[in-house]
Amino acid sequence: MREYLRKLPRETQDLIGLAGEIASVNNMRAYLVGGFARDLILGVKNLDLDIVVEGDGIKFAEDFARATKAALTRHKRFGTATARLAHNLKIDIATARQETYPFPASLPQVRRGTLRDDLARRDFTINAMAISIGGRDFGRLIDFFSGKKDLADKKIRVLHELSFIDDPTRILRAVRFEKRYNFRIEPQTLLFLKGAVRLKMLEKVQPQRLRDEIILILKEGRPLKELRRIRELAGYGFISPRLAVSKSTDQLLTSIGNCIGWFEGAYPRRRQLDSWLIYFMGLLDSLSLSDTRAVCRKFVFSRGEEKRLLSSKGLERKFAASLGKAKVKPSVIFNLLEPLSYETIILFKAKYKNRHIQKYIEDFFDIYNGMRIEIRGDDLHKLGVMPGPRYKKIFTGVLQAKLDGLVKTKAEELVLIKKLIERKL
Ligand code: CTP
Repeated sequence: MREYLRKLPRETQDLIGLAGEIASVNNMRAYLVGGFARDLILGVKNLDLDIVVEGDGIKFAEDFARATKAALTRHKRFGTATARLAHNLKIDIATARQETYPFPASLPQVRRGTLRDDLARRDFTINAMAISIGGRDFGRLIDFFSGKKDLADKKIRVLHELSFIDDPTRILRAVRFEKRYNFRIEPQTLLFLKGAVRLKMLEKVQPQRLRDEIILILKEGRPLKELRRIRELAGYGFISPRLAVSKSTDQLLTSIGNCIGWFEGAYPRRRQLDSWLIYFMGLLDSLSLSDTRAVCRKFVFSRGEEKRLLSSKGLERKFAASLGKAKVKPSVIFNLLEPLSYETIILFKAKYKNRHIQKYIEDFFDIYNGMRIEIRGDDLHKLGVMPGPRYKKIFTGVLQAKLDGLVKTKAEELVLIKKLIERKL
C-alpha cells in the first residue's frame, strides 16, 4: 500500500509517519483502519485518520497529541481518543478491541483484543481492512476478510450472519455505502439484512443511534436514492408507524435538492444550510404536528432541531393563503418569513410551486432579509424617547414602511418616527 500512501497530501503522510514512529518507540503496532483504509484504496478523499493500536491506545494518543500539539479527547472506558489538529484534521485512535453483544441491538461489551479481533467486529468487509504503519511492516495491507476484492467487485458484504442482529444500525449503513459508492449489497448479505428487518430489529435499537445514522444518510449529497432503498428494504415504520411515504414525497425530496442547489448557488455567503434537516422535514411532511413531535422526542433531537422540524407544521395553510396571490405587500411577506428558519423557507419553496410564492421567497432572500433601517437608538434618544420596548416597536414600524417603499432616506425615516411618536407608538 506504500504507493497509495505516497499519493496522500504531504501533511497527512508526515502525520502517518509520526504515528508509526510513536508506535515503534512504545513497542506497539499501529494500523490505519476502517473508512480511511477503504477510501485510500478507492482513491476517495478522506482526511479523517482512523488508527488502531495493539497496546495502550490512550498512551499512544497522548504521545501523539503532545508531538503534534493536538487537542485530545479521551474515552478511557473504551480505550479510545480523538486528536484534533489545525485545519479540521481529526484522528481517531483506538486500542484494538474485541466486542460482544450481551443481547441483540445492545451496546457491545468491550475487551482488549488483537488487530484481528478488532477487524472481525466490524460491519462490512470493505471497512475491515488495516494498513500497518509501524517499522519495517510499513504499508502492508492486512485483509482477513477479502475487503479489497469486494471493493473491486463493488460489493457490500457483512462478516457474519448475525451482524445486522448485533447492530441493526448497519442496515442503514449498508444502504449508505451501497449508494455512495454505487456498489450492491451482495445477495447473502441482503438475505441477512431482510431477516433482521423481519425481526423488527430497527425498532429495537436505541433511537439516538438510529438518528445519527439517519442524519449521516441525509448528509450524503442528494439522498433520494438512499431513502428509496430504505423504503424498499425496511419501510419507514422505524421512524414513525404513521409515516406514509408516497410518490409525492419523492417529488418533494427531489424539489428540495433543487431548491438547496438554487440557494447555495445564489447566496454563497449566507449561513450554510443544514440541508439534512430540510430533507428530514420533507420525509416527515405527511405527519401531523403531534406525530412529528413524537418523532422528535423519540430520537431526542436537540431543541433547535426540534423547533425547526415543527415550525412548518400548522403554518402551511396560512402561508399558502397569504402568499399564494398577486400583489402581497413586502411587509406581509417579511412578517411571515422572517421568523422562520432558512431551512423551513427552503422547504416551503420546494413544496409550493405557485409562482407568486416562488417570487416572494426569492424577493425575501434578495431584498427584504438584508434590509436595514438607518436610524439608531441615538436618534430616538435625541427625540426624547426613553430606551425600552418602545424602541423595538418604532424600529419595526420604520422597517415595515421601508419594506413597502414608503420611506427611503434617513430623513424620511426621521419624519416617520416623529409621526409615530405623536401617535404614541
Ligand atoms: N463500524 C462498524 N459498525 C458500525 C459503525 C462503525 O463496524 N455500526 C466500524 C467500521 O469499520 C467503520 C469504522 O467503524 O469503517 C468507522 O466508523 P464510521 O466513522 O462511522 O464510518 P466510516 O467507515 O469512516 O465511514 P464514513 O466515510 O461515512 O465516515
